[in-house]
Amino acid sequence: MKAVGLKQYLPIENENSLLDVEIPKPTAKGKDLLVEVKAISVNPVDYKVRAPKDKVESEPKILGWDAAGVVVEVGDEVTGFKPGDEIYYAGDITRPGSNSEFQLIDERIVGRKPKNLDFARAAAFPLTSITAWEALFERLNIDRNGADADKSILIVNGAGGVGSIAIQLAKLAKLKVIATASRDETTAWCQKMGADEVVNHRHDLAEEIEKIGYQDVDYILCLSHTDEHWQAMTRAIKPQGTICCIVDNEQPLAMDTLKSKSAGLVWEFMFTRSMYQTEDMAEQGKLLNELSQLIEDGVIISTCNDVIKPINAQNLRDVHQRLEKGRTIGKIAIADWS
Ligand SMILES: NC(=O)c1ccc[n+]([C@@H]2O[C@H](COP(=O)([O-])OP(=O)(O)OC[C@H]3O[C@@H](n4cnc5c(N)ncnc54)[C@H](OP(=O)(O)O)[C@@H]3O)[C@@H](O)[C@H]2O)c1
Repeated sequence: MKAVGLKQYLPIENENSLLDVEIPKPTAKGKDLLVEVKAISVNPVDYKVRAPKDKVESEPKILGWDAAGVVVEVGDEVTGFKPGDEIYYAGDITRPGSNSEFQLIDERIVGRKPKNLDFARAAAFPLTSITAWEALFERLNIDRNGADADKSILIVNGAGGVGSIAIQLAKLAKLKVIATASRDETTAWCQKMGADEVVNHRHDLAEEIEKIGYQDVDYILCLSHTDEHWQAMTRAIKPQGTICCIVDNEQPLAMDTLKSKSAGLVWEFMFTRSMYQTEDMAEQGKLLNELSQLIEDGVIISTCNDVIKPINAQNLRDVHQRLEKGRTIGKIAIADWS
């Protein structure tokens, strides 16, 4: 089967950084589905795993986690899916990725594809949506049925892939949403996703929220450059509030301001459940199904801003390069194999 993989970890400008390869088609066993991948989307984790280093792979390493496709075979323990089902998922970082014509995926982390979206637009949702959903409703414990209505949240990096769906989910929970963006295009995109206010993350965020009349906020969801925004976030968080970060810090984070405020820090990593095979890993399948319904009901709108065809090494190198620059808006999907 066709796939796009790497053997060496090279800068993306190098033609050998991602290669068109032929690899054996796998067979489904146990809880696995064998999926014919119709579309994928690219996330920063793809270029972070691909980052240049000396390591050399003996077999092509297949990247890519977001995908939408059709089930073609099921393992003997599968109960929820059958061949022909259209699905979407964000995969498991410990297994071969979605940049291949066929992929194995544990049924517990798979959802049914929204009927009103094509494969490309469906593939743009899972990884960012699982991240935003788990961050808001499980780590920050925000009630998604509105019990926290009118509490405030600052979403740092509102126009990125995760921010685009996080804004919509926070509005679903009836929060006051202050998103951050630094350009006119990204500000307009945050407004389109439903943000009540947009402030600039190139300035001090505590001062930015003060300018629009907020002394502090109940929640902060930081979706970019944790170190850069940390100090301002500890000033902007309300006493007893909580900050959720999803990006590794590079330096130690000062905790003193949080202590005096009895404020909390929580982390979200969307691969935790599959990586540790947690007892509740099927929650990801469930949330993807709930999200499908919200998309079909028109409550959640597409976050996909560009679709490229076909899936091959050249197009993947191109999209990795665009993402590495850190200026993309919403999501980019890639569809079809020829
Ligand atoms: N823990 C997890 O499970 C998890 C899951 C998904 C993603 N992530 C991580 O979360 C980060 C965001 O992912 P994503 O897919 O949303 O990214 P993305 O789509 O690549 O984000 C692009 C946006 O980042 C904004 N940006 C650039 N520099 C910024 C800064 N210094 N402060 C705030 N915003 C900035 C830009 O907005 P402007 O042009 O307006 O500046 C741009 O529109 C990545 O580091 C990714 O690896 C973690």
